[in-house]
Amino acid sequence: MKTNDELLSIGKAHMMNTYAQLPIVLTGGSGSRVQDINGNTYLDFVAGIAVNALGYGNDTLKAALKAVIDSGLTHCSNLYWNEHAVTAAALLADLSGLDRVFFCNSGAEANEAALKLARKYGFLHKGPDATKIISMKQSFHGRTYAAITATGQPKYHKGFLPLMPDIEFAEFNNSASVAALIDDKTCAVILEPIQGEGGIHQADPQFLKDVRELCDTFDALLIFDEVQCGMGRCGKPFAFQITGVIPDAVTLAKGLGAGIPIGALLASEKAASAFTPGDHASTFGGNLLSTAAASVVLTSLKEGTLQANAAERGEQLTAGLGELQQVFPELIIDIRGIGLMQGIELSEPAAPIIALCLKKGLLLVSAGTHIIRFVPPLTVTADEISEMLSILKSAISELNA
Ligand SMILES: Cc1ncc(COP(=O)(O)O)c(C=O)c1O
Repeated sequence: MKTNDELLSIGKAHMMNTYAQLPIVLTGGSGSRVQDINGNTYLDFVAGIAVNALGYGNDTLKAALKAVIDSGLTHCSNLYWNEHAVTAAALLADLSGLDRVFFCNSGAEANEAALKLARKYGFLHKGPDATKIISMKQSFHGRTYAAITATGQPKYHKGFLPLMPDIEFAEFNNSASVAALIDDKTCAVILEPIQGEGGIHQADPQFLKDVRELCDTFDALLIFDEVQCGMGRCGKPFAFQITGVIPDAVTLAKGLGAGIPIGALLASEKAASAFTPGDHASTFGGNLLSTAAASVVLTSLKEGTLQANAAERGEQLTAGLGELQQVFPELIIDIRGIGLMQGIELSEPAAPIIALCLKKGLLLVSAGTHIIRFVPPLTVTADEISEMLSILKSAISELNA
């Protein structure tokens, strides 16, 4: 077996230079912990960036995946039906109250599908000029062309112009700013109910209600990007269920497959019916392995266990971060988020704290330069939340000394 350093040097020579990767090679995991190639163990509050919802080595997930592998059919084209895709679609419809699902492979692809659906909806219901899409400043929707165009952070656009036409940006949590942009040519408004990469900012319930009303007035689709905040992370199966504002379409990925790549676009019958055969497709969309994994996550959400733990551990995390803020009031200037999607904003860069926590056996990730984000597996225990808080406290104390 190759060593850590040998793998790093081969990887650096042959993989594209798109990530600022830490110099560790991960090889295995169990519960909320991962191991590296040198046998070190880390408590993981990153979870593949809000992906590994069931933790590592989940027996039900392993059995479901193994059953698909043992059947010999891990993939068949969308020329045919398969039981796992149908089951996952029915569970998504049941949990969301929305009618139809399109499966793809990632969050960016789910947003691509949503933006295409919006344009087609506008074309059919309002005419060929109804192409405007309103997105939010500080949003993040992924790295494909439509998704970076809809991402309201200029740093993701630099070097990639020209972008897609007709996407404009409103202020998040400012209904007047959406009202100023929306018009008869608008086919959709897209927003994250909780902005993730933009720094963990939760939408005000009133803002969501106002945007819903504006979309109704102008017959524009309201699309919620729940790629990061959905699938139980906020204490409900869907983040939109916290406020009760019902969107026309929702995009999902990350936690939906608990580590197996999958994305999905959910939509109401009225919105979904804009797509007819030939309008959109994905070779791997609805793949048997990924939809079998999704069915395990969705069954757990249907039973209520996953989101109940996220809500309970989330309250513990909020309280613990509050205590930490009392100890370091000048450093921790804000605590934001809900459930197991929370962040602390710091008066200093987050990187040195994250680096020291890594040395102490704790994985953390930033959201922007000054925010530490906490997105552990949804199965995280009370003891693990306490352990994380104590490692974080000791790292901050050491850096302050
Ligand atoms: C809200 C949101 N939308 C979309 C994406 C893109 O997802 P993916 O990386 O799976 O394409 C992300 C990824 O972080 C995200 O947080």
